Amino acid sequence: MTEWWRESVVYQVYPRSFQDSNGDGIGDLEGIISRLDYLNDGTPRSLGVDAIWLSPTFPSPMADFGYDVADYCDVHPDFGTLATMDRLVTEAHRRGIRVLLDWVPNHTSDRHPWFLESRSSRDNPRRDWYVWRDPAPDGGPPNNWLSVFGGPAWTFDPATGQYYLHSFLKEQPDLNWRNPDVERAMLDTLRFWFERGIDGFRIDVIGRILKHPELPDNPENPEWRPGDRERFRQLSVYNHNYPDVFDAVKRIRRVFDAYEGRVAVGEVFGTPEEIARFYGEPGEPGLHLAFNFHFIHERGHEITPWQAPVLRRIIAAAEATVPAFSQPCYALNNHDRSRFVTRHNHDGLGAVRARAAALLLLGLRATPFVYYGEEIGMADVDISPERQQDPARFRSIGRDPERTPMQWDASPGRGFTTGEPWLPFGPLSPNVAEQDGDPGSLLSLYRDAIWTRKAQPSLHRGRLEELRCDDRVVGWVRRAEGSSPVLVAINTSSEPAIVSLPFDAGTVLICTERGRDGQTVRAALELPPLGAAWVQASA
Ligand code: GLC
Repeated sequence: MTEWWRESVVYQVYPRSFQDSNGDGIGDLEGIISRLDYLNDGTPRSLGVDAIWLSPTFPSPMADFGYDVADYCDVHPDFGTLATMDRLVTEAHRRGIRVLLDWVPNHTSDRHPWFLESRSSRDNPRRDWYVWRDPAPDGGPPNNWLSVFGGPAWTFDPATGQYYLHSFLKEQPDLNWRNPDVERAMLDTLRFWFERGIDGFRIDVIGRILKHPELPDNPENPEWRPGDRERFRQLSVYNHNYPDVFDAVKRIRRVFDAYEGRVAVGEVFGTPEEIARFYGEPGEPGLHLAFNFHFIHERGHEITPWQAPVLRRIIAAAEATVPAFSQPCYALNNHDRSRFVTRHNHDGLGAVRARAAALLLLGLRATPFVYYGEEIGMADVDISPERQQDPARFRSIGRDPERTPMQWDASPGRGFTTGEPWLPFGPLSPNVAEQDGDPGSLLSLYRDAIWTRKAQPSLHRGRLEELRCDDRVVGWVRRAEGSSPVLVAINTSSEPAIVSLPFDAGTVLICTERGRDGQTVRAALELPPLGAAWVQASA
């Protein structure tokens, strides 16, 4: 099916941390191949995901763990070779798993041959492939833009007497997408992978590829207070979601459309309206899917509270804005954000909320993304200063805690490695082995929810109708022609909650409190504290 992504669940693999096959403590592609059956072996004993997205696997000096790409058309030796990637694709496809890679169009590594040439002299033909500017009259940076990781977004290059722009680390110079040669070269890298059978890309910070052509100063943020992150001192109006980005996205989309069944999923930030704009218009589409991270942060870096009215607002806004020809795309976790279990653990009940969160994520009208380890309830791991790795830790909070190795079992190497892991492990529990045969485990809940979703058209392609509930509960009904409607209800309060059924009677398909599956309910459904359920209307 060409639009397979509409009914799919996607699993994000952070390759360094998923499975090591050679004992160097770093996960690799061979390791991922060996775990494909865990992800989907065609039976409900496996997770049942339809696609995987691999965070960057390209050659890179690893200043930002692969988000600094030195060659878009190869594989980093830590992960394997092009031949291993080809085999991964074949093995994944054999199991019905699509493979997405991570395309980083905004910037390259400062060791990418293009940048080495660009910085070699002012008249090098590739000088204009990056954003170079003269110093301000006082010798300082050309404008006030800040790097997302803190500090100025400009670094001075003494050899040629100019500054270059980097929205992230100084090792990640921004490409100049106003130069058509840059666009052409980058689009060719997509074609390279499509020819090799890659099914699509997650696109890194797509909202930054085009800036205001004159690079004016950003205005100060009047709401910024001392103690807030430095980067929020200013409103990034001229270097983030600048209108020209949306036209570039449509040109990028045409490359995807030249191949069958490929998908573009953008990492985007902004209001619901801005997110929606990335999808483009009918007849002139942009991204197939644009991430909505509002369950993590609705604005800035404030953690979204686990409260029914807030969740309802996020869902309603996405439903109202994403164009009818596509659908939302949500994630509760990724490699940049504190894990769900930790974010919502103020009262020690993060792991309980994670069960309801699974039914929320998988019960929405959307393409859900599950981050490795989420399905077993991995939490952030405290990393001692001498083991910290993330370069972002110097100017903002580091992201190591949510990137620790997958916990496959309780052995010393956690089933992840026979060597010393690149980041320390979390506590022995949770791990896959202990949850595998336990019907009450989070892993079993994820598996059941994913396979139930697959089996019920209402759940994987039905429309979503919001349900009126009191402020303790967020609920909706999924409906598709020819399939009984399914009620999804999430109780975010620590009291039991009652929801009136929108149909006469139904069967509990799945509930966070195990043992209730298959139960018949009439008129009303009682949800456990912080619990959730899917109930299918009786035919
Ligand atoms: C994205 C990635 C993040 C990376 C940054 C720069 O936000 O998810 O990990 O550091 O882009 O490429």
